[in-house]
Amino acid sequence: MMASFCHFPASPPHQSLSKLLSPLRRPRPHPFLPNVLCIFNPNRNRIRAGSQFRRLSLSSSSIALPPEELDSSSLGDLTRPDFPILHQEVNGFNLVYLDNAATSQKPTAVLKALNKYYESYNSNVHRAIHSLSAEATDEYEQARTKVAAFINASKPKEIVFTRNATEAINLVAYSWGLSNLRSGDEILLTIAEHHSAIVPWQLVAQKTGASLKFVGLTKEEVPDIEQLKELLSVKTKIVVIHHVSNVLGSALPIEDVVAWSHSVGAKVLVDACQSIPHMVVDVQKLDPDFLVASSHKMCGPTGVGFLYGKSELLSAMPPFLGGGEMIADVFQDYSTFAEPPSRFEAGTPAIGEAIGLGAAIDYLMGIGMQRIHDYEKELANYLYLSLLAIPNVRIYGPAPSETVHRASLCSFNVENIHPTDIATILDKQHGVAIRSGHHCAQPLHRSLGISASARASLYFYNNKKEIDVFIRALKDTIDFFISFHGTEGL
Ligand SMILES: Cc1ncc(COP(=O)(O)O)c(C=O)c1O
Repeated sequence: MMASFCHFPASPPHQSLSKLLSPLRRPRPHPFLPNVLCIFNPNRNRIRAGSQFRRLSLSSSSIALPPEELDSSSLGDLTRPDFPILHQEVNGFNLVYLDNAATSQKPTAVLKALNKYYESYNSNVHRAIHSLSAEATDEYEQARTKVAAFINASKPKEIVFTRNATEAINLVAYSWGLSNLRSGDEILLTIAEHHSAIVPWQLVAQKTGASLKFVGLTKEEVPDIEQLKELLSVKTKIVVIHHVSNVLGSALPIEDVVAWSHSVGAKVLVDACQSIPHMVVDVQKLDPDFLVASSHKMCGPTGVGFLYGKSELLSAMPPFLGGGEMIADVFQDYSTFAEPPSRFEAGTPAIGEAIGLGAAIDYLMGIGMQRIHDYEKELANYLYLSLLAIPNVRIYGPAPSETVHRASLCSFNVENIHPTDIATILDKQHGVAIRSGHHCAQPLHRSLGISASARASLYFYNNKKEIDVFIRALKDTIDFFISFHGTEGL
């Protein structure tokens, strides 16, 4: 790790506050949310930091985004004003947040929904007769209905709120897995699964005697779907598969995987953490048995996620956790259980957070998931090609083409520079936030012959200018290392 970050002096001229703010002060209708007025200023500089609002100095870095260069027609520029956190400086530079695959930022509409719950109707759900509780229960159940509509589930009761996608996968592994798996059965996964989709099944396999089988990568570095087809057999009881990879940026043909799996009698659990925030996901079309996602990756709060399960499957499954809310009757020596989804929501749920997720869905649907997807495809290509043009950079996953659409993220390495050093310098010297490490995908990294990678991941509020900032910062970072070590080995 580098100990010193004093290589780049970066102090460009200050810009005038009035020049930045004046043309955009007048409130105008929000582009996506009916009946909402906004001060439509892409360079708004008011942020919440800790418990206080603070005003930022408008000094910017040598690679800051001049407002006049912003392309106001892009979805990124249209939506940025909705995200207060984006308008701040980090380490003295305008923040460029490119760690969206880890978690997304939250629009004001979601922050307001959370605040409103805690300020005006905070109360427990499903328990009391008083008005506050009735309102909280209504809003909580409405959030469930919104999630169901968002993924086109046929009934809201097919949606179980969990703490996150990880808990949703554990729920299926422990509830469905423990009662349906036995010795000799196979659980089929790809090598590119997130640890959340691997470890729960390892634990359940140890208890049941079932075994895990992994599909490898093709030479294009996508999970080998032909191999998956070959590995499917009557022994396969469940296929656990991601929709979009959080490392490779590849998308899998879930509809086909589901059809092949069902033809041998296997269930399918889809990890949709990296697809649901970015594209239309229709569970009736894809037809998985289970599907999971996390709110915090789709503009919603942390602490809540969801499991979609076909109602006949959920109804046949035993509880995962026991406690209040999930019972029908409790006696001294046994209990009977509520119907799903309550059966799987033991204890007080994350009420405000679920309501916040509902607000995030309203926000995303206000923009339109197809519009988000189309815009991100453009960003994805731009990011990929910009990175590809840098010497000694190795990007993982498939090359984009007419038929191959990458997600708007790139995991990469620069020869002879540790990804954590890259991420550290980008942050400290440029205010660019990317991720480094194994991204909770160690088996995948091993199969790529590496232990770690750097990852830049985008969302619809990013724009091409930010990609340019990132690329220039990365080039500077590489130069910085060359200045220490020379080009040998680079
Ligand atoms: C593909 C994938 N699956 C599962 C998860 C786990 O999500 P959570 O930590 O919100 O449960 C993530 C998070 O990074 C992910 O990218």
